[in-house]
Amino acid sequence: MSRLGTETAFEVLAKAKQLERQGRKIVHLEIGEPDFSTPAHIVDAAVQALHDGWHHYTASAGIPPLREAIAETISASRKITVTPEQVVVTPGAKPIIFFSMLALIGDGDEVIYPNPGFPIYESMIRFAGGKPVPVPLREELDFRMDVKELLGLVTPRTKVIILNSPNNPTGSALEASELETLATALRDTDVLFFSDEIYSHIAYDCAPFSIASVPGMKERTIILDGFSKTYAMTGWRLGYGVMPSVALADQVTRLMVNSNSCTAAFTQVAGVAALKGDHTPVRQMVETFRTRRDKVVGWLNGLPGVSCRTPRGAFYVFPNIKNFGRQSSELADLLLNQAGVAVLSGTAFGAYGEGYLRLSYATSLELLQEGVTKMGELLGGLR
Ligand SMILES: Cc1ncc(COP(=O)(O)O)c(C=O)c1O
Repeated sequence: MSRLGTETAFEVLAKAKQLERQGRKIVHLEIGEPDFSTPAHIVDAAVQALHDGWHHYTASAGIPPLREAIAETISASRKITVTPEQVVVTPGAKPIIFFSMLALIGDGDEVIYPNPGFPIYESMIRFAGGKPVPVPLREELDFRMDVKELLGLVTPRTKVIILNSPNNPTGSALEASELETLATALRDTDVLFFSDEIYSHIAYDCAPFSIASVPGMKERTIILDGFSKTYAMTGWRLGYGVMPSVALADQVTRLMVNSNSCTAAFTQVAGVAALKGDHTPVRQMVETFRTRRDKVVGWLNGLPGVSCRTPRGAFYVFPNIKNFGRQSSELADLLLNQAGVAVLSGTAFGAYGEGYLRLSYATSLELLQEGVTKMGELLGGLR
């Protein structure tokens, strides 16, 4: 257990809720979930599924119609051929990180991962007995991985490289050319890619590219994707992994058998409706996020001492607060306790997040403006 990390967003949310119970008003910019409701046709499909008797266990890897719909979706969007047997459906996408690391990593195996990055990567690498090898995401490169630097970290013990584009927490997106360079350089090795593409639909000025789309790479890549962010379904717990081989899908399914048995049946039926149904609500949500992104980046850059790059995907901004000479975690605490604004310290995403804060703009423009204004007042008093 001492090797297992955590996701600070849930802890900050709990602290913020406690302050609210004491009567304080808190602006929530910490948690990473759309503030939209799940589109109505997906909700209707779930209700109908319950009325139709989807009350029991399903196959551990998921119901065949959902695995088929996922295989079709991924084949079309990533321009590769994926079969339903390669798909494993899980309660949320997070278990795909957990199970993949357990299935692949042995003692001392090295795993390269983005830092700042989703904290569960480092946690799971360590838990599985592996050695986490961070690749820094630097502001000068708009927080993209420096492929040359990454390649310099590859050793004969490197087992997996974790990619996450668009990235949580920085909103950066890797270029197709960068992924092609990476794939070409490692073509003759046994290194596997773990490509977390959960924000692939939430992209603004770019079409996200998957390393699995590079010829020869789908046999070497686990794709993580899901429903939480794209369809505003975080509470439904529905995600999936597309495995490079049926053999690995079978191993991951065995971990499902040992842990969850299966994902909730009616949720899976709703997942089919999500993939096959009208995507207009998704497009509208992404357009709303784009408007908020542009506003919040402008407001943050208007605060003396703060600078903020324009993210290309997800729904987070990662402003630089180095001018205030305080640790990010200290500033995040002050913002919560004194200004009533819940944000995350950049270091909640790894050591290279020092000097930054993460704000989620998956909330209304009014609350965003209030949060940034309060942040400006507090920071103004520190200079
Ligand atoms: C990068 C990344 N991967 C995976 C997940 C997990 O998603 P889910 O809620 O479907 O488990 C998240 C959720 O915050 C995320 O940000």
